[in-house]
Amino acid sequence: MGFSTDAIHAGQISDPVTGAVITPLYQTSTYEQDELGKHKGYEYGRTQNKTREAMEANIAALEKGKYGIAFASGLAATHALMSLVKSGDHIIVSDNVYGGTYRLFEQNLTAYGLEYSWVDTSNLSNIENAIKENTKMVFVETPTNPMLVLTDLKGVAVIAKKNDLLSVCDNTFMSPYFQNPLTFGIDIVLHSTTKYLNGHSDVIGGILITSNEKVHERIRYIQNAAGGVPAPFDCWLVLRATKTLAVRMKQHDENARAFANFLVNLGAAEKVIYPGLQNHPQHELAKEQMSGFGGMVSADFGSLEKAKKVLNNVKIFILAESLGGVESLISHPASMTHATVPKEEREKFGLTDGLVRFSVGIEDVEDLIEDVERAIG
Ligand SMILES: Cc1ncc(COP(=O)(O)O)c(C=O)c1O
Repeated sequence: MGFSTDAIHAGQISDPVTGAVITPLYQTSTYEQDELGKHKGYEYGRTQNKTREAMEANIAALEKGKYGIAFASGLAATHALMSLVKSGDHIIVSDNVYGGTYRLFEQNLTAYGLEYSWVDTSNLSNIENAIKENTKMVFVETPTNPMLVLTDLKGVAVIAKKNDLLSVCDNTFMSPYFQNPLTFGIDIVLHSTTKYLNGHSDVIGGILITSNEKVHERIRYIQNAAGGVPAPFDCWLVLRATKTLAVRMKQHDENARAFANFLVNLGAAEKVIYPGLQNHPQHELAKEQMSGFGGMVSADFGSLEKAKKVLNNVKIFILAESLGGVESLISHPASMTHATVPKEEREKFGLTDGLVRFSVGIEDVEDLIEDVERAIG
């Protein structure tokens, strides 16, 4: 099936009572049992929910995976993922992942005996060099938030298989429309469904997708045992949103290409970062492993003062955390999404005080361009 056909039909279940075409919202915490020891396969809302199951199957199909396991946020999904390793294990992570991922790993899970190495995974030999006897997992985010650095997914999968490691890709920035890490041999895909998958800035959610039976079994167990499940209504909203993922992503991509070129031509930024620009150091890799370049653009305006001018004077771009919604958002990673990453750490990979991140929405791109042109003055 094509992507949009799957997006609209995969996992969808019509209402068995009325035939209602749209998967019902099973807003219930528990289920009536027929008699003691006999039920319909549904016992308790944390353990089973049909709206959630439909959303999980839908997103799994979009990622070309067998199983989706949903959580209440992207970070809850990341936390559940860490139940695949145990105290004493070592994990290799891309060095400029989302700041919350950094905080969870480095400032919380190290207390439970997990050891993390932060490496520039855009160079595969850095991964190989970081492998130790106790290494169990390699976790990459590509492109990264907000530096838009890419990692070669096929290369990661080969290294992981050779060394018996689990490979994970945070695919939030591309969405399954532009990149499918499982097809390159990656074991597990992670999404913050808060972003493009839901796309309307009204849900917080996360999901893990895999075709590996053992991984599925463990994560499914943890979903119930630790209980970080999403609300049925949030699943219903995400299921509604994935139907338009393809059309939204096409427009995000078209707008971001035009917007990135506008920023380059304007000349107000010292550096414009977008995988679709020919001067992006990994433009060729982007064309190989992604079918589009996405809606995220970063630009370094050289100083906090210059960045502030853009951040404070735009009118259509909304100054807010998050990304991937139909409305354009603008943010200052150093003080917002990545505030927990120490200054000397973030500056090592170019996340300076002058860096501004644009989540280019699907408004008329001429209006977005005019907005920034006017803000800069
Ligand atoms: C790339 C990426 N991964 C994971 C997350 C965490 O997701 P959530 O905010 O849904 O917990 C985010 C949030 O911004 C993100 O940008």
